[in-house]
Amino acid sequence: MMNIFKSVRFRLLILSLLAVFVITSVIVMSDVIDTNERLIEAQKEKAVLLSDTIKQSIMLLMLENRWKKLQTLIEDLSKSNPELKEVRIFHPISGRIIISNKIEDVGERIYEKDWNRFVKQEEFPFIIKKYGSMFATRVLSIKNMPPCHKCHSPEQKTLGVLDVEISLAVAQESIKASTYKHVTGLVVGFVIISLIFLIGGERLINAPLRELTDVMKRVESGDLSVRVKENKKDEFGYLSRAFNHMIDALESAKKEIERCHMEQMERASKLASLGEIISGIAHEIKNPLAGISCAIQVFNAELSDNDSKKSVILEILNQVNRLDRIVKDLLSYAKPKPPMLVPSKLHEILDKALFFVYPEAKGRNIVIDNRIDSEIPEILVDPDQIQQVFLNMIINAVHAMPNGGMLIISASKKDRQELQDVIKRQLQDEKFIAIEFQDTGKGISPEDLPYIFEPFFTKKTKGTGLGLSISRKIIMEHGGGISVKSELGKGSIFTVYLPMKD
Ligand SMILES: Nc1ncnc2c1ncn2[C@@H]1O[C@H](COP(=O)(O)OP(=O)(O)OP(=O)(O)O)[C@@H](O)[C@H]1O
Ligand SMILES: [Mg+2]
Repeated sequence: MMNIFKSVRFRLLILSLLAVFVITSVIVMSDVIDTNERLIEAQKEKAVLLSDTIKQSIMLLMLENRWKKLQTLIEDLSKSNPELKEVRIFHPISGRIIISNKIEDVGERIYEKDWNRFVKQEEFPFIIKKYGSMFATRVLSIKNMPPCHKCHSPEQKTLGVLDVEISLAVAQESIKASTYKHVTGLVVGFVIISLIFLIGGERLINAPLRELTDVMKRVESGDLSVRVKENKKDEFGYLSRAFNHMIDALESAKKEIERCHMEQMERASKLASLGEIISGIAHEIKNPLAGISCAIQVFNAELSDNDSKKSVILEILNQVNRLDRIVKDLLSYAKPKPPMLVPSKLHEILDKALFFVYPEAKGRNIVIDNRIDSEIPEILVDPDQIQQVFLNMIINAVHAMPNGGMLIISASKKDRQELQDVIKRQLQDEKFIAIEFQDTGKGISPEDLPYIFEPFFTKKTKGTGLGLSISRKIIMEHGGGISVKSELGKGSIFTVYLPMKD
């Protein structure tokens, strides 16, 4: 079962939510800040407007000499305007409150902040925070104008200072409400996107993936008859088609392998029983042959040297020896002996094999160029068996060049990675000695090439077709391999690989 947190769907969801979160947060934040600023500006403007109106009313009352009514006017104003939290007039020299909407404050000293603003003559509105709430405040001087001179001495520049505070509670409430609206929108958006991803992901990604993995599992367990539905036009449809093609290819490859395997099994069982029959017959022939050979030799001994029958007897002996050789070959093919490995020098084994062939090669005008140098290290082989292999290779080459030619025999060290894939697959060791037999003979046709290592495959009237199959068997028993390259009319190269064991 796949961990949901590691799924692509989950990671996509997280990434998208993160992107949505960042983008909407920035938008919401800037919107909230904007609204906040606008509402505060509006409240400040209100503070300016109200303070100006109150100042006008105060001045009017004073000019009409009804300044005693001031306290009532301010109290009434604050009652009719709930946002107006504090309206007071303080003395420009002492800083004490002369008139206030809260009567209990009269005689108290004005706030330090408000006093400082008056001193600096800053008449624009500003925001203060008190007891956790915000207020727009404005401090405004009531100047001694010429009409006032009838009651106040002209030296007095300022008659009093008006201090107005407007609560921002309503604005703050609106800010809260708009923030709440934005955040709710954000959360709802989050939920909707998550749902879209979960449901969409399930239908668009998970379900097709599950179908693919189910089919894969069945294919893995050996059922090659299953196929994925190819009804989609998206990437999954493409994947399904590719996957089905792959199963098709697998199915036909499997059928081909099964067919080859069957063929091989049939051949192996045929060869096994053939081997049994061959070795049985060979055994039966061997003893009578030995008997015939003995009898003829006795016969031969009785004949005088110039007896005309002697040549016939010798020919019979020749043919009997040939029969004996064939029987031995058959026996070694059917029941090969395990190799007796001893450290051996390749060039010595080759020299022994060449000794038997030189006379025939010379008679056919064939030059044998032995390039194996004595520096090639000793390797562990059965010298008799390898000699038989070399002999088979050389005799084949000689037979392939009835009108003369050249046979080059060479050896070199090879690492596994230098070998061709075909031969590499048959071998296990890392280091090899490759012995090459290169002739300029008639070559092998591409049709014959796959069969030359088969027992009894021969193109020669006197051949048994066992040479290469016995050679290959011996080489394989040594953990080695054999490869061939041949071109009709040009010649062949047989390469024998023997492992170098440490
Ligand atoms: N060097 C070569 N050049 C051309 N053809 C070759 C060569 N070596 C083998 N062949 C072909 O492969 C066949 C099989 O060879 P193999 O040695 O198994 O049997 P053979 O030589 O016919 O008989 P024998 O059992 O006497 O060796 C040969 O008949 C020949 O057609
Ligand atoms: Mg041969």
